[in-house]
Amino acid sequence: MPNTSALFTLNRRKFLVGMSGALGLAMLPPWAKAVAASQDRLKTLKTGAATFSLEPDGPEAVSGAWGYNEQIPGPLLRYRQGDRLKVVLRNGLDQDTTIHWHGIRLPNAMDGVPYVTQPPVEPGDEFEYAFDLPDAGTYWYHPHLNATEQLGRGLSGPLVIDEPEPYPADRDLLWFLDDWLLDQDARIVESFNEIRDITHEGRIGNTITVNGRLPHAIKVRPGERLRVRLINGANGRIFSLTFGDLPVHVIALDGQPVEPHEPDQGRVLLGPAMRADLIIDCTGDDGRTVAVEDSFQAGREFELMTLEFSGPAVDRDDRQTPPPALPANPVPEPVLDDAEQHEVVFGGGMRGDLDRQKMMEMRRHGLAWTVNGEPVHDNGKHEHDPLFILERDRSYRIVFRNETEFHHPIHLHGHHFRVIARNGEKLAIKPLRDTMLMDPRETVEIAFVADNPGDWMLHCHILEHQVGGMNGMFRVRG
Ligand code: C2O
Ligand code: CU
Repeated sequence: MPNTSALFTLNRRKFLVGMSGALGLAMLPPWAKAVAASQDRLKTLKTGAATFSLEPDGPEAVSGAWGYNEQIPGPLLRYRQGDRLKVVLRNGLDQDTTIHWHGIRLPNAMDGVPYVTQPPVEPGDEFEYAFDLPDAGTYWYHPHLNATEQLGRGLSGPLVIDEPEPYPADRDLLWFLDDWLLDQDARIVESFNEIRDITHEGRIGNTITVNGRLPHAIKVRPGERLRVRLINGANGRIFSLTFGDLPVHVIALDGQPVEPHEPDQGRVLLGPAMRADLIIDCTGDDGRTVAVEDSFQAGREFELMTLEFSGPAVDRDDRQTPPPALPANPVPEPVLDDAEQHEVVFGGGMRGDLDRQKMMEMRRHGLAWTVNGEPVHDNGKHEHDPLFILERDRSYRIVFRNETEFHHPIHLHGHHFRVIARNGEKLAIKPLRDTMLMDPRETVEIAFVADNPGDWMLHCHILEHQVGGMNGMFRVRG
């Protein structure tokens, strides 16, 4: 195991150097410019080796990375609501891969789950994905095979679907967050699927990037209203973000509009795979700087981004506060009264309730987690028995019971669900999500309409938990 502890300091120092010489870094990343992108209709995404620098024009390249079209993160795919996505995946890796379109409500055959919805795409082969995009919002794409390594090396990218009418913000920014485990020479540490990561909080890295770069400063105009799309592309890291004293409103979660509201206790909590669209009002004068900070781990707080106020003020007379809601997407609303209920119990991990004997036996197979009492391999070659079978177009309640000492971002494929209660307490705002972050020992109740036929995965998106058994499938009968 290479010594990685010093690197944090190294990067930290580089980062600080970068900050004090700030303006060299202040140039906006290409996506950060308000994008009114027009899309080519057919795209090719080719997997293969990629090199990238942690700083623009930085001499030091990260080695061992894999990317789509040699980009880290993968190219921004941007469409309008109702468009059809057509992407050819070309596999330039020497191992199988697929693409899963995280959060998109699409036909089962396009979902990218090997052995379940399609055969794996072998080295040198290709596969064409084509489907309509029913919902506007912030999504992302990534492989669904050997995910700990493939995502850990950088295979993932943003997918943005624009509302028919532009949202009234001055700029639309995208921050694709990732977390890398690098050694002293900026090589990706190749110890994927470490049993320690599997049994604890997943692979936590030592280098954070935003759009493939170390945390950096961007310029904002005083009074500017930003829409910031956050995507957590990390294997295991959870972010808890604060924005100084700036007014912040959440307008969408996991792509789906939510009644605009201030984040709970001023913190935006983002587990792996989760997204949030924020409206940030840059109140203050020219010359001000505001730090966006992560404080998920007490004692290991760090600065994610810095907003530097400069230039003439933006006139905000016509601004509504709270900011206007996004138009709803056509997601069917569950009817709770007679909804059938299912329960999913997550167990295992360090300090969990599983009996020692069973835990030891599982560990011998690289497993540490159970779903309804048993670990489930994520490679799908083993037939999955569905956790439950649902009738098409009926409403269901699912109770997730977390009997472990860890957080778990639980993701359902093919559907968005309403989060209705946590620990038995009904929520005032019931967001529509595709991934729900459960606290340790928490019980979460969700509800949704099973309107999309097929076999769909339900798993923890801490990828080391998924590979360690926290995985399952449910069936919607066609
Ligand atoms: Cu983002 Cu099953 O995954
Ligand atoms: Cu988990």
